[in-house]
Amino acid sequence: MAKKKIALITGVSGQDGSYLAHFLLQKNYKVIGSDRRSARNTQWRLDRLGIMDKLIYEELELGEIFEIQRLFKKYNFDEVYNLAAQSFVGSSFNSPLNTANITALGVLRFLECIRTISPKTKFYQASSSEMFGDVLEKIQNEKTPFNPQSPYAISKMFGHFATTNYRLSYNLFAVSGILFNHESPFRGEEFVTRKIIKGFINILKGKQKFIELGNIEAKRDWGYAKEYVEAMWKMLQNKSPKDYVISTGKTYSVKEFVNEVARYLNFKTKWIGKSSLNKKLIHTDTNKVLVKINKKFFRPAEVNFLKGDFSKARKELNWKPKTDFKKLVKIMVDEELKYSN
Ligand code: GDD
Repeated sequence: MAKKKIALITGVSGQDGSYLAHFLLQKNYKVIGSDRRSARNTQWRLDRLGIMDKLIYEELELGEIFEIQRLFKKYNFDEVYNLAAQSFVGSSFNSPLNTANITALGVLRFLECIRTISPKTKFYQASSSEMFGDVLEKIQNEKTPFNPQSPYAISKMFGHFATTNYRLSYNLFAVSGILFNHESPFRGEEFVTRKIIKGFINILKGKQKFIELGNIEAKRDWGYAKEYVEAMWKMLQNKSPKDYVISTGKTYSVKEFVNEVARYLNFKTKWIGKSSLNKKLIHTDTNKVLVKINKKFFRPAEVNFLKGDFSKARKELNWKPKTDFKKLVKIMVDEELKYSN
């Protein structure tokens, strides 16, 4: 019988980490999942997938290289998926140094451990479409120049280029997936899609009066996270180490996301107000406000538009997205209704 492959997933209790752990376990991997110590109460996703006791759980602070070294000495990793990060763009403006330490330098610590302890280990770095920032091309692909707009995106760029540099300098199998926004019922509540869905369901249940949002004109290329983790794995099974954009090629505004959630939940609504700060979504049956704009949720610098070209991944990895925007909203709303009390 072939030896089980051993994979490390950092940030295992997050949205992508839990889906990837589930995926790799189904592929018969031995999965080591790590998280920072304070992430303990976020293991609900692993519980919902029924895999908490199927993986080996390790606490790991990406700020400390000796902790990463310890893991590399304990296990013989075939593959490392570095998904851990301070991943909320909004918070990166309030904690830029912590973001840089984990989201940028954390990657370098891993690359150094692989270079010095385990150069055969394949490395996947979670790069982000946020790096395209104030976009320099209408549709973004692997060759589009980056133009980051937040400490988060700057840190992701560092991780991205560190991964490329180690691949070229030391011949490591180290790649980056440039993933566009990917959502699911496992999305953290601070991200806009889950915030909107949770908000509408709370309104339905009388637990919340209205939802407050920031820039609803921002457009994103939204895919389904469960499908995106397969692309990560495919990148590490590739013949040669290369970077790929993973996206849907479609873009919708936050406002359109709100409209689709409202439609699916049978709210009759209309937008009123002209200026961006005055816009309100009204329930036309009751005249009550469902969504208002609050300046507090605007970012000091914004990424207004993202739309990814995944044709290289389609051609070379045989990967393509299967879930469209409406289906994604349906999946998220249905599961939120099922689990909300
Ligand atoms: N979070 C949030 N909350 N965002 C809001 C709100 C609000 O109340 N109102 C408007 N938005 C806008 C944000 O300004 C942004 O333009 C958009 O909604 C999406 O915000 P997020 O859901 O927080 O995601 P993100 O696009 O900033 O970043 C996500 O995707 C990246 C990939 O492009 C994160 O998952 C990143 O970690 C990831 O790299």
